[in-house]
Amino acid sequence: MKEKNSITPHTKVLCIIGNPIEHSMSPTMHNAAITNLRLDYIYLAFKIMPNNLNFAVKGIRAFNIIGINVTLPFKQKIMKYLDEIDPMAKKIGAINAIKNDEGYLTGKNTDADGGLNALRNEGFKIKGKNILLLGAGGAARALSIKMAENVNKIVIVNRTLKRAINLSQTIRKYFGINSEAKQLNKNILSEECKKADIIINTTPIGMYPNVDESPIPPECLHEDLIVYDIVYNPIETKLIIDANQKGCKTLGGLDMLVNQGAIAFEWWTNKKPNTSLMKSKIIEFLGINK
Ligand SMILES: NC(=O)c1ccc[n+]([C@@H]2O[C@H](COP(=O)([O-])OP(=O)(O)OC[C@H]3O[C@@H](n4cnc5c(N)ncnc54)[C@H](OP(=O)(O)O)[C@@H]3O)[C@@H](O)[C@H]2O)c1
Repeated sequence: MKEKNSITPHTKVLCIIGNPIEHSMSPTMHNAAITNLRLDYIYLAFKIMPNNLNFAVKGIRAFNIIGINVTLPFKQKIMKYLDEIDPMAKKIGAINAIKNDEGYLTGKNTDADGGLNALRNEGFKIKGKNILLLGAGGAARALSIKMAENVNKIVIVNRTLKRAINLSQTIRKYFGINSEAKQLNKNILSEECKKADIIINTTPIGMYPNVDESPIPPECLHEDLIVYDIVYNPIETKLIIDANQKGCKTLGGLDMLVNQGAIAFEWWTNKKPNTSLMKSKIIEFLGINK
């Protein structure tokens, strides 16, 4: 973050809006990147009451806030207030970043690219693979719709079957690939884990404080699997610990978090942030905030 006395009338404002917002890691990682690049920016967090979303968007224009992250519960609801939505975000049906060009607001979904880049950066290939996706919420939509361009098949397993059916229909409609929807239960998981190449958990099961929970019984896991858990708090979830013990290749959610932030940061500032620094600041933050 900029030193307090170095904030001037020229300082440009970036922010995140959501509710709740107190536990967001975005200010920590973005301000670290700003300081590191010696940019005249500051990144703040605003808790917005749901009834005030339209006023918040007016405020973004009025105060010329130039880059905005959007988190729960506004990722879908905010779209109608924007001037333009990037085509991939339209397919996903949600945005998590906005750029303000002199009052013209464009929305985009950097979760999708951030989540996929995290896999690719680890050398995991998705082309032609069979994906088992746990969850059918916002993150599941972002990842599966982005991945559908390349993979062989996506099986979506969700607590609420109807949401999984909707998502698999969208995938088939846009990309013509094979996609099935199934109810989340132990038998289905046991069956589907045998057929999958990559498992992606997008449910919050195992997230702090419920760190002893896992969405997949360990006996379903086997060493040919890549297991990707997008939960980042704790950094190593029970699912990742179990998968490592079974000899699977694994990836946690921290890289997705950093990558989605880095894509937005570069979009707003035209500068590449130091992602290793952003990651280490989050690890520090998670350590302190337990
Ligand atoms: N690493 C990253 O950068 C990143 C980015 C985005 C999200 N995330 C993480 O991903 C998780 C999901 O986020 P989201 O935005 O997709 O949330 P969301 O839109 O609320 O979706 C949550 C999904 O998880 C399922 N679910 C919730 N609680 C469950 C439970 N107790 N048992 C079984 N299924 C359950 C929901 O099923 P129903 O349809 O039945 O409700 C839904 O499919 C969160 O933990 C979030 O922190 C990480």
